Amino acid sequence: MSDLLIKNCNLGDRQNTDILIKNGVITEISDDLPQNGCPEINAKNYFVTSPFIDSHFHMDATLSYGLPRINKSGTLLEGIQLWGELKPTLTKKAIKARARELCKWAIARGTLSIRSHVDVSGDNLLAVESLLEIREEMKEFINLQLVAFPQDGLLRANCLDNLIRSLDMGVDVIGGIPHFERTMADGTESIKILCELAEKRNLLVDMHCDESDDPLSRHVEMLTYHTNRLRLNGRVAGSHLTSMHSMDNYYFSKLIALMLEVDLNIIPNPLINITIQGKHDVYPKRRGMTRVPEQIKAGLNVAFGHDCVLDPWYPLGSHDMLEVAHMALHVAHMTGADDMKACFDSVTSTAAKVLHLDNYGLQKGNNGDLVILQCKDQIEALRLKPTRLFVIKKGKVISSAKPTDYKLNIGGKAEFTDLIFKK
Ligand code: FE2
Repeated sequence: MSDLLIKNCNLGDRQNTDILIKNGVITEISDDLPQNGCPEINAKNYFVTSPFIDSHFHMDATLSYGLPRINKSGTLLEGIQLWGELKPTLTKKAIKARARELCKWAIARGTLSIRSHVDVSGDNLLAVESLLEIREEMKEFINLQLVAFPQDGLLRANCLDNLIRSLDMGVDVIGGIPHFERTMADGTESIKILCELAEKRNLLVDMHCDESDDPLSRHVEMLTYHTNRLRLNGRVAGSHLTSMHSMDNYYFSKLIALMLEVDLNIIPNPLINITIQGKHDVYPKRRGMTRVPEQIKAGLNVAFGHDCVLDPWYPLGSHDMLEVAHMALHVAHMTGADDMKACFDSVTSTAAKVLHLDNYGLQKGNNGDLVILQCKDQIEALRLKPTRLFVIKKGKVISSAKPTDYKLNIGGKAEFTDLIFKK
């Protein structure tokens, strides 16, 4: 909890504004705030935003790329098989070291909240123990929300007991994977069990749901049904929902009304959806991401996740949520100005609503958490993925980086090219 005055902030729609943080809380946003003896930063009219949020990640698997081998086919199923091979060799020390490293990468890029799924399939709950300890260790710097995720299927293994034990240990959110259960009926049953558990324990739900190219998968429909039945409106998220990309258009018009009725939150993972879905297609190949523009237009909250960085499912990534939003707007044909801003919101303000984060946003009374980016607004941020000059948590600078050549970044010529052209 610190005091900090940030002069000359560019808020996108407002220039050269000052922000005062006292005891970790934003107390004033106004022009020309006087110096008051507290530490001061000059933002030089660069763009200031609330921190980025990753709404869907797998921190127990991250940075394990190549262990024990790489995913040759690049498919979701080989990734799950590979993760199954890796799990018996995992140690708490290794999981924590990789998770800690990933948190540092995220913080340096201005992400201060991550919802991470944690595999509860194994009886030893090693990943749960590890990530609970990391959540505590890193809490001054980054907010971790953990989801109990039955990777092998709730009804496939001895998973329900493990999932309940993980909630007792302090995991925050109830996860699921209905499309990976043995049958559609088992998938339906798993949704019923998990939603009833959420209602009983007053917890949020976030299920991997219909992460396939199968246009006939119907688990999103069942998720809306049980959300409605148990009055969990606004408290349930569906992650991925990629089959919706392939669904019949008439059925989609029915389904989106059901989703709206229960304020279902949507969490696509653009980097992963574009690479994993459509793998079995000949040309034309499906893009595979769920119907983001239609969902946003309908009024649903859509938040993006990174999902994976250097793990059995994805061989790339540096945990930059601007890279995620940049991919999303390309995949979804969202290059209109308002559409691009909506994609920026999907890794900031809308994501805060989906994760039910309190005191988020650049307003008086909210947490003094913000990022100064070396650019002028949201759209330039998406275009350049610029240097995060300062990352501030409750008034304290927790990461900073030297400015780069802004003129060169935005597309201008560097000095040396001028000299070459003059010859
Ligand atoms: Fe996932």
